[in-house]
Amino acid sequence: MTAETARATLIDGKAFAAGLVDRVTAATARLIADRGIKPGLAVVIVGEDPASQVYVRNKGERTLAAGMRSDTHRLPDSTDQETLLALVAALNADSGIHGILVQLPLPAHIDTSAVLGAIDPDKDVDGFHVVNAGRLAVGLPGLVPCTPLGCLMLLKAALGDLSGLNAVIVGRSNIVGKPMAQLLLAESCTVTIAHSRTRDLPALCRTADILVAAVGRPEMIRGDWIRPGATVIDVGINRLPSRDPARAAEGKTRLVGDVAFDEAVTVAGRITPVPGGVGPMTIACLLANTYTAACRAAGVTPDSLDA
Ligand code: GUN
Repeated sequence: MTAETARATLIDGKAFAAGLVDRVTAATARLIADRGIKPGLAVVIVGEDPASQVYVRNKGERTLAAGMRSDTHRLPDSTDQETLLALVAALNADSGIHGILVQLPLPAHIDTSAVLGAIDPDKDVDGFHVVNAGRLAVGLPGLVPCTPLGCLMLLKAALGDLSGLNAVIVGRSNIVGKPMAQLLLAESCTVTIAHSRTRDLPALCRTADILVAAVGRPEMIRGDWIRPGATVIDVGINRLPSRDPARAAEGKTRLVGDVAFDEAVTVAGRITPVPGGVGPMTIACLLANTYTAACRAAGVTPDSLDA
């Protein structure tokens, strides 16, 4: 194959996620049959944001399909913080609920960190509580944020041992960038977190054996920023107008990542597509975290969810 026609291997997150969901579903059935414990996930949504409504409905359906209990609490936009904190306290105290997810973003009049901080860390299946961030940082068992956990699973499936590899993470969010860095550090990668103030970002990206893009800017990372043969994990989910001007005029959109895929695929060794890469892993990891939380609450060692 000539350099011009070389194409990266696609990392099929959709297929990997389907396998993980199958393993979680089987492990859940065993937990119910052997111990009489049915994992339960409560999802709380405040307000009417249409995208959040779609995500929450999907989470509920997928939770039920995995054989778990699913409770969805839909609260009006006018809900005050006290009411929301009272619901979180009731869910913390409910022994049939093992995972609590408060859908973000919350309305502006609610203090998000106060609400996330009120969730029992052992039910915090998003892994957003500072106790879980701390556990991850010091290497204690806890609940790990779903998106970076899914990225790590894909990387290990694609590359095996990650130790000694140079990892560059573009994006320093609490939800993706920082926990991704902790996870890769724990795998003995040499980790750099880049952000909007990083000098000469293209040159830094070219040092990466593993490049994780989590900035939320469509197609920001260009092909010539990528080291030939590198593994590229694209966390971005951005909407751009359709390529077809007539469809774009009707408001039709297409999904793109934070990486300019058509360029990157000619340079990288492996790459996650958008859609069908990291996205499907997030909900699979949410189900895995709910299963894990249910086992730990009962003092049961979780079955391995490895492929
Ligand atoms: N809103 C968008 N993604 C997420 C997520 O992963 N967790 C929560 N809680 N809210 C979100």
